[in-house]
Amino acid sequence: MPEKKISLYLGADHGGLPLKNHIKAKLAEMPSFTVEDFGTHSADSTDYPDYAEKVARKVAESGGLGILVCGSGTGMAITANKVAGIRAAVAWDVTSARLSKEHNNVNILCLGARLIGPDVAWEAALAWLNAEFQGGRHETRVNKISELEKGKKSS
Ligand code: RB5
Repeated sequence: MPEKKISLYLGADHGGLPLKNHIKAKLAEMPSFTVEDFGTHSADSTDYPDYAEKVARKVAESGGLGILVCGSGTGMAITANKVAGIRAAVAWDVTSARLSKEHNNVNILCLGARLIGPDVAWEAALAWLNAEFQGGRHETRVNKISELEKGKKSS
């Protein structure tokens, strides 16, 4: 039986465009993912919240994963985290990316094209994609975030 493919949604502003395209090209070599690119597709100045919103809504609705790239990753993460069900985090290296999945079950990885080069960014993305949420005590904590999001007091 063929393994189920993981849906992965990509987005970037002008600052993140080359890195987003680099990651997209790398992902094209990996048959276990289906990739949808929400733009931007040109180097013209544009607003990162527009792409973060599109990718975050798609990830929340589909249960897939997303990668967002801007200059720092920060604006993408702030915006994506406004959408219910999204846990977005910026990663700068393999360890921060891996831990974001293992401990926080991050479903959107945000990368800063001005802060890390393409090789490190790809290694970080791969570490995040290959990592598994560890559950247990981490699940208790992530559930508290979900409760907070629903407007409930968790403790
Ligand atoms: C765009 O100049 C820059 O502000 C954006 O890419 C990002 O770094 C925002 O967080």
